[in-house]
Amino acid sequence: MQLTKLLSTLISIISLSEAYRILVVFPICAKSHNILGNGVVNNLLKAGHEVVHITCIPNKKTITNLTEIDVSAMDTNDVETKEVDSFKLKNLVGKDNIADSLQFFYMIHELTKKFLKDESLTEFFLNTTQQFDVVIAEWMFTDLAAGIAPLYKCPLIWVSTMEAHWQILRLIDGPSHPAYSVDIFSTNNLPLTFVERVTELWVMIKKMVFINLIVTYFEKNVYNEVFLPIAAKRGVTMPSYQDAVYNGSFLLLNSHPSYGTPFQLPQNAKYVGGYHIDTNVHPLPKDIQKIMDEARDGVIYFSMGSNLKSMDMSDNMKRSILKTFSELKQTVLWKFEGNLSDVPANVHLMKWAPQQSILAHPNIKMFINHGGQLSTTEAIHCGVPVIGIPVFGDQYINIKSAVHKGFGIMVRLTEDIAGHLAEAIREILQNESYKNKAVELSKIYHNRPLPPGKELVYWVEEVIQTGGAAHLRSPALHVPLYQKAYLDLIALVSIIIYLLRKIMSKLLSFRRKTEVKANKKKIKKH
Ligand SMILES: *[C@@H]1O[C@H](CO)[C@@H](O)[C@H](O)[C@H]1NC(C)=O
Ligand SMILES: *[C@@H]1O[C@H](CO)[C@@H](O)[C@H](O)[C@H]1NC(C)=O
Ligand SMILES: *[C@@H]1O[C@H](CO)[C@@H](O)[C@H](O)[C@H]1NC(C)=O
Ligand SMILES: *[C@@H]1O[C@H](CO)[C@@H](O)[C@H](O)[C@H]1NC(C)=O
Ligand SMILES: *[C@@H]1O[C@H](CO)[C@@H](O)[C@H](O)[C@H]1NC(C)=O
Repeated sequence: MQLTKLLSTLISIISLSEAYRILVVFPICAKSHNILGNGVVNNLLKAGHEVVHITCIPNKKTITNLTEIDVSAMDTNDVETKEVDSFKLKNLVGKDNIADSLQFFYMIHELTKKFLKDESLTEFFLNTTQQFDVVIAEWMFTDLAAGIAPLYKCPLIWVSTMEAHWQILRLIDGPSHPAYSVDIFSTNNLPLTFVERVTELWVMIKKMVFINLIVTYFEKNVYNEVFLPIAAKRGVTMPSYQDAVYNGSFLLLNSHPSYGTPFQLPQNAKYVGGYHIDTNVHPLPKDIQKIMDEARDGVIYFSMGSNLKSMDMSDNMKRSILKTFSELKQTVLWKFEGNLSDVPANVHLMKWAPQQSILAHPNIKMFINHGGQLSTTEAIHCGVPVIGIPVFGDQYINIKSAVHKGFGIMVRLTEDIAGHLAEAIREILQNESYKNKAVELSKIYHNRPLPPGKELVYWVEEVIQTGGAAHLRSPALHVPLYQKAYLDLIALVSIIIYLLRKIMSKLLSFRRKTEVKANKKKIKKH
């Protein structure tokens, strides 16, 4: 009796939450972006939904309810050899942030165009038996993915793999205020000085003009070229490019105020940083487990991420870093893709590293990385202090945030990095405040109403169930900049002041003239 009652309640609970068909699009062919794409997919699968994932790094395993559309065959070689090469570590030593360049925007545009024109993708878009309840697309400095949702007449959810920033918030709310929200490629810290505040405004104006005059022109052409013929064959009418781009229902942000910047966000943007982390810590491979267990003075983990290769450092840099490590009592795990001779006994090179499990080991002392958003998130997830060597893109703001909050030290990537690195390592080993801060922020990070993976699913379901979550949309989206800044009021007041002054001066000169006339009359009378 009891059991049947329990069963029927269970069944009613299960049937309440419907299963949806969801299209996930992560167009950037990079490992870190793919980890975040898989994170979205895995959380949705776990919640019982059916997912189609458009990706260039497929799992190639059969997973229930998951279909992968493999676009890895697209030919990006010509773009890559020319452009992607300049983003290799060896070409970035001692450089400023090169992501903040025309070259970067050109590369993104070309790669996205190739992606959207991929044959297998076009074939998939043309398949009218494919229908979806929502499209979840990564936003990476191009708005073009906005054309996918209208094909299926369903809502669009944007995912930012980075911290919030004005360029993405303009799609659902409006550009954020440059006086207290820095550009994603900025090297400035909050609070801003006068000069920094002016620089942020200048950067924003420059980019806004560039986006509105140039990027939009090229993107509109690609949008029409790619989506209009497909829509015609599917029997749907496409909205205009502008209408599609500014019709996103929701924005999921891969950050959290515990380690990032607490941005001013509209109701339809939420921080879900950490959603990609599997809450079950996977056991370490036996050899690494042994090394870490036996490291009595602790372990330093060093990885420059999946895109930058430590191997690309100059011989001098590699040698001097090894020498620095050899002088430490700690064990060093270095994710290093190549071969290196004369490696000291306390240094272990690894071609592949189970990063999350290494960071979860109790003997870990610090994490030396490139300031990538995944590394920073995983460090705070485990309460580990960091040394950041930013190289380009959002790595500067990530590591500057870590420094500002007190759980990290920044070291510049230069030929003579070893000495600075040694100093930073000593500081973190000797001064407990970095570790204490990382632990404190980790508590804040974990203390949320819902774990990030669950929260992500919650908002995706909310958007589907409310047909696009119109109730969450920001009223600011359709208020033009001149109205927000009250430029019309300023113009009106200026005109009134101008007219008043004109009238006053007219009146004054009139009075003066009549006075002069009166005086003249007086003189004549005498
Ligand atoms: C697969 O999706 C269906 C609905 O499309 C759902 O009923 C089923 O529970 C899902 N299976 C798994 C293993 O999640
Ligand atoms: C269209 O998609 C369905 C799955 O929804 C698949 O069974 C079918 O083979 C596809 N058709 C073509 C022409 O690819
Ligand atoms: C905007 O999105 C909503 C919700 O998905 C949809 O109903 C509407 O048709 C879209 N509007 C345009 C112009 O595409
Ligand atoms: C490293 O050494 C191994 C064997 O000595 C060799 O097969 C491999 O190609 C080398 N790798 C690199 C990147 O030099
Ligand atoms: C430890 O580091 C913190 C943060 O940089 C600093 O404020 C503090 O003065 C340092 N303490 C010592 C003893 O150096």
